[in-house]
Amino acid sequence: MPADLLNTIAEVRRRVRAARAQGGTISLVPTMGALHAGHGALIDAARRGSDCVVVSIFVNPIQFDRPDDYEAYRIDLAADVGFCAARGADLVFAPSAPEIYPEPQKTFVEVTELGDHLCGKFRPGHFRGVVTVVAKLFHIVEPDRAFFGEKDAQQLAIIRRMTADLNMPIEIVPVPIVREPDGLALSSRNRRLSPEERAIAPALFRALGLARDRIASRAASVGEARQAGLDALAKYPLIRVEYFEVVDPATMTPVDRIAGPVRIAAAVWLGSTRLIDNVSSAPPGKI
Ligand code: PAF
Repeated sequence: MPADLLNTIAEVRRRVRAARAQGGTISLVPTMGALHAGHGALIDAARRGSDCVVVSIFVNPIQFDRPDDYEAYRIDLAADVGFCAARGADLVFAPSAPEIYPEPQKTFVEVTELGDHLCGKFRPGHFRGVVTVVAKLFHIVEPDRAFFGEKDAQQLAIIRRMTADLNMPIEIVPVPIVREPDGLALSSRNRRLSPEERAIAPALFRALGLARDRIASRAASVGEARQAGLDALAKYPLIRVEYFEVVDPATMTPVDRIAGPVRIAAAVWLGSTRLIDNVSSAPPGKI
């Protein structure tokens, strides 16, 4: 079945409200296009138990902290709509920038503290832009459930908190990371890697795995786990580490002690491409 492509807020509201009037469960998968199997897993998860799956495709200008990154973010809308249809989405909402921002945005949604670490520390204004557009999409689509990938675990934690703090009646559903056979987490940015960078890129997942195993098998401290990961990455002169942290899995804020389950999250640069990834761990007997 082809997915219907809708470009206006009025159209998507009308279609979603018609589905709801028939008692349907509405699910939203927010994306910025350039869809890959990771997004496919989000749509598959949304398809289960939903009567109407809406995929939004909107390259949100206000979440880019660097103009060159925004310029380099290319999508092929026809290919993305085909992808959504093949995965069983019902509606694709692909608004223009003026449809979402008819005037310069003066109202922003910001989740304090949770965005001060990890990506938020290095990408000023990024999470404010993400949370603002997600809040707008939630108001436009009014879904019962919304699906987000665990690769962007800090984004997920922040959106969960926004939804709870603003009493939005929306279930936030996390979807596990999809990886290439060599461990590299799928990302729209992977295609910007040169062949040489692509060959090195799985080192990030391996370094996270090393830190994970130190915690799980030897109850390593935060410092020991971080050092194991950083030492592994230091073998690759092309990799520049932005952060490598052991964090609380619910808030994604760094911890000093590992007393239970944690996440290990990292961001690295390979040339002009920034990669992020994370894994879960816990000390022996604390899973
Ligand atoms: O994860 C993304 O693709 C974006 O940050 C999101 C959630 C679609 C908001 O623009």
